[in-house]
Amino acid sequence: MGRGEIDPLKPKVIISAQLRDEVKEALRRLLNDVADVRFLTNWSSRDSLEEVMEAEALIALHEYVDESLLRHASKLKVVSRFGVGYDRIDVKACTKRGIYVTYTPNVLSNAVAELTFALMLCLSRRIMESDKYVRTKWAKAGRCAFPLREDLAGKTLGIIGLGRIGTEVARRAKAFRMRIIYYDKIRRLNTEKDLGVEHVSLDELLRTSDFVSIHVPLTPETTSLIGEEELKKMKRTAYIINTSRGPVIDEDALCRALEERWIAGAGLDVFTKEPLPLDSPLIKMKNVVLTPHMGTHTVETRHLMMSTVAEDVRRALTGKTPLNLVPEQKDVFPLKRKEGI
Ligand code: GLV
Repeated sequence: MGRGEIDPLKPKVIISAQLRDEVKEALRRLLNDVADVRFLTNWSSRDSLEEVMEAEALIALHEYVDESLLRHASKLKVVSRFGVGYDRIDVKACTKRGIYVTYTPNVLSNAVAELTFALMLCLSRRIMESDKYVRTKWAKAGRCAFPLREDLAGKTLGIIGLGRIGTEVARRAKAFRMRIIYYDKIRRLNTEKDLGVEHVSLDELLRTSDFVSIHVPLTPETTSLIGEEELKKMKRTAYIINTSRGPVIDEDALCRALEERWIAGAGLDVFTKEPLPLDSPLIKMKNVVLTPHMGTHTVETRHLMMSTVAEDVRRALTGKTPLNLVPEQKDVFPLKRKEGI
């Protein structure tokens, strides 16, 4: 049977066409024996709905999976999010319909923590400007007249959200000999003991940190968690790093904070609107380092994410409970011993 033809006996799997070609093709290869795999853009468009109606699995990148889509997806068994944040998936609506929701929480923390550190180092050592300096000024200057910058060692890192990624950031900060404080609604006593991190209020974290790094999921509670009031509490010499979700920071307030120097700078991988529009004030600012939502974009991590997603979709299609259900579903669909995990 050719690639374009549909095998009526195989379950249909729809993969986000927004994923890179090599990822889509690898997922297709991993699932080909149990499923008919299709790539689809704009899932909720009229043209796509016919395919969604036939799908037993959806592999989502940034798509919204909500009531209006689920209404058409009567055969759906699993929605698998290629990533850790599932703020665009209506888990309650899926659960009500008996649809599994899976994600990839255990395989991407190193990659995101490394990017967080890359942003911190770019800010503290002005790597972007230094690179430009070498290309344009150093030879003419005859010696390095580039201004002195700052150590990370001895500085205070305030981590907002000490989950998996926040903990990996703390591990790296410890190696960099930073003082680490954190704010989280849950006390992480083991991590406190293992890594010597200290739990503080959000207020104290903002007032005392030299670097503030955000690692919380996007929920109604964390939307605009950092706004004007919070930014004004930060030291004028402090930096804020966001590799979680754009809307956790009120971006208008952040732009004012950066323009008016309430804080020293920002390292941002995520934005309220993505791709970041070219007319965003952030684009022209010198005290920010910007990356294109690429926290998990390493070869190793993407491979692990692919195999995690493929395995969970395969399990759902073959009558087994997926291994990486979102926390809200863990008690709803408990793993059965006989499933041989
Ligand atoms: C990336 O944004 C993810 O949710 O993994």
